[in-house]
Amino acid sequence: MPTKIVLGAQWGDEGKAKIVDYLTVDADYVVRFQGGANAGHTVMVGDDTFVFHVIPAGILHEDKACVVSNGVVLDPEVLIAEVDELAQRGVSTQGRLFISHSAHLVMPYHKALDKADEESQGGVSIGTTLRGIGPAYRDKVERGPGFRVMDLLGPGSLSEKLKSRIEAKNALLTRIYGVEPLDEEEIVAKYAGYAELLRPYATDTSMLLNRALDEGRMVLFEGAQGTLLDIDHGTYPFVTSSNTTAGGACTGAGVGPTRIDEVIGVTKAYTTRVGNGPFPTELLDGDGDRIRELGHEYGATTGRPRRCGWFDATILRMAARVNGLTSLALTRLDVLDTVETLKVCTAYRCGDEVLEEFPADPQILERCEPVYEELEGWCEPTTEARRVADLPAKAQAYVDRITDLSRTPISLISVGPARESTIESGS
Ligand code: IMP
Repeated sequence: MPTKIVLGAQWGDEGKAKIVDYLTVDADYVVRFQGGANAGHTVMVGDDTFVFHVIPAGILHEDKACVVSNGVVLDPEVLIAEVDELAQRGVSTQGRLFISHSAHLVMPYHKALDKADEESQGGVSIGTTLRGIGPAYRDKVERGPGFRVMDLLGPGSLSEKLKSRIEAKNALLTRIYGVEPLDEEEIVAKYAGYAELLRPYATDTSMLLNRALDEGRMVLFEGAQGTLLDIDHGTYPFVTSSNTTAGGACTGAGVGPTRIDEVIGVTKAYTTRVGNGPFPTELLDGDGDRIRELGHEYGATTGRPRRCGWFDATILRMAARVNGLTSLALTRLDVLDTVETLKVCTAYRCGDEVLEEFPADPQILERCEPVYEELEGWCEPTTEARRVADLPAKAQAYVDRITDLSRTPISLISVGPARESTIESGS
């Protein structure tokens, strides 16, 4: 059974969780490898909707194991709330949820600093999710102040371990940002409680996954955010603080690249973005509002309205390149069911030049205008389609054009939020 990475090919919110949930049927392990509670992965099973921020979406399949690996910045408060909610809804995580003891923890001071950074005058406002992601990765990379699951669980007084860290962050919060300090005792007491709740789940997840692979088990890697939010390849500085691209699965989980068989890029049939930063095909008119309402495009983590625009093939070609995509999963085709005329961005015009590839330089990107091709909408419902042949001819033409322009074959098409509203290519 092949090892697969499922990741976002755009700016996040592509519908990865639904694709992961669909593919989990064939998997033994589902693994989060980067990001943290900034993700909001929504899965619909029958009439039930589940939103996960930390736990892999595969947890809804009761015979599968789920792993939160080294590369994730783990907010224990969110994880424990998700475990509790799943338990209340009859889904047990006992014995099948594993957390890397090397994962870094998101601490209350990370969230306070994220907020203070965003609110500070003079800085660049990224429009973050305020989940403490950037400050937690900053501490990890800085090394000195990082705080891992193993530090929380290891011997020694928690108060001693956290004291200097909290003091240093309080100094920053009060002296640089002019906001209230955090209560040291409250944090220590809270995290002492989390330690006992996390202990049964903590292990060496790289070891666990490599042993599973040696035994021929199928591992599915669940990316969070999207390619254009990658810290190295995205629209910097308007990005998240981790590697959302395929390489991140290997470094985050401690699994070698030679063990990966497939990389599936999830893309919407149009484009969305939350937070600030460039977005060449953004629609600032009624068409954008219409797509937002048709697709209920509001953030699963923050509730923010998403910016909406036409499908952009330059982005997909870039995603195919940096991730080595083996196929695409095209989602939300049904959202376009009532749109009479569709536009697809095939390239950018920058002055006299036509650029086929997404420019890495934001100053060039700023001057780019999309070059559009128009396609007729199909104006028929697609949600009941179960085979490619069930799709209206014009919808098939739209899918074929996306395949050609993206230079990547499509393996799955999603025509609704339910598990069964999924079409396998070749059907
Ligand atoms: P952060 O990851 O909270 O630091 O936010 C950095 C940027 O990534 C902001 O523009 C966020 O809106 C965006 N972002 C973070 N997580 C997600 C996600 O799961 N979906 C879409 N955008 C996200």
